[in-house]
Amino acid sequence: MKEEVREAAYAKLNLTLDVAEKRSDGYHEMLMVMQTVSLSDAIELKKTGEAGIRATCNFRYVPTDRRNLAVRAAELFCAKQGIQNQGIRIRMEKKIPVGAGMAGGSADAAAVLRGMNRLFGTDMSRKELEALAEEIGSDVAFCIAGGTSLAKGRGEILEDLDPMPDCHIVICKPGFSISTPELFRKLDQVNLRRHPDTAGMLEAIASGDLRECAMRMYNVFEEVPDRRMRTVAEIKSTMRDFGALGAVMTGTGSAVFGVWQDRDAAENCAEELSREYRFCVVSRPTERLNIG
Ligand code: C5P
Repeated sequence: MKEEVREAAYAKLNLTLDVAEKRSDGYHEMLMVMQTVSLSDAIELKKTGEAGIRATCNFRYVPTDRRNLAVRAAELFCAKQGIQNQGIRIRMEKKIPVGAGMAGGSADAAAVLRGMNRLFGTDMSRKELEALAEEIGSDVAFCIAGGTSLAKGRGEILEDLDPMPDCHIVICKPGFSISTPELFRKLDQVNLRRHPDTAGMLEAIASGDLRECAMRMYNVFEEVPDRRMRTVAEIKSTMRDFGALGAVMTGTGSAVFGVWQDRDAAENCAEELSREYRFCVVSRPTERLNIG
C-alpha cells in the first residue's frame, strides 16, 4: 500500500448552463454541458502517525476544517471504507480561484476521493466514486472523471460526451465573487427570456466543430438582474474584440471565459485583460480521466 499520493484537481467550465424548475427539495433542475480544463489545484495525501484528518492550503482564507469539501470527502471515504485508526494529511496547493463558478472546491473533493482510492488500494470503480461524490456536493460527481459531459438533475446525473474540440481558453475572474445560493434565489425572481441551445451544442461537439460550439455557449445566470453582470458583459466584450469565437460566464460566476482556435490571439487577449483583472490565465480543455 502507498504512503503518499498526488492528484491534479482540474477546474470546471460550463459551456452551457440552463436551469429548469425549482424542485420540492429546494434544488434546481439543471441542464449543463460541462468541461474540465488544464488549470488545476495540486492535492497531496499522506498517511500520518496520528489519527485524524488535517488539511493545509496555500490560500490562507480557505477553511481547512469540515467546511472544506476536501476534508469532508476524506472523512466520508474513511467512514464508507471503515478506515478508523489512520491519520491523513491533505495538502492543497490551489490555483483555481475561489467563488468563480469553476468548481474549485468540488474538484479538490473529487481529487481527494480518487487519491484515497489509490492510497488505500480500495479499487472503487468510477461509478462508486461518483456515488460517494454526490453526497458531498452537486458538482463533485462530474469532477471525478471530468472531460466533457452533459449534466442533469442537480448536476450529478452525467452523460459522457466526445471531447470538445481542442482550443485555447482565456479565463478571467473579476475581483468580486458571487454566492451560488444568492444567485439561484435571484434567478427564481426572473422569467428567463432565453435558453441555451443544448441540443445544438451536443451536435457541435459530436461533429468536432469549435466555431459551432463557441456560438452556442450560453449561461442563463447572465440574465439575473445584478449590477455585477455589467462587469461580466465588459469582459465578454473585450474577449470578442480580441477575436474570441464565443465568450460566456461559467456556473454562477464570477469567472468568464472565451475560446480561440489561435493561441497568439488568446494570449494577446489575456495580456490585455490582466491589466485590469488580477486573475487571468490561458488554459486548454482536458479529456476524461480513465478510472476503474
Ligand atoms: O450542492 P451544492 O452544495 O454545491 O449547492 C450549493 C447551493 O446551490 C445549494 O444549497 C442550493 O441553494 C444551490 N443549488 C440549487 N440547485 C442546484 C445546485 C445548487 O439550487 N442544482
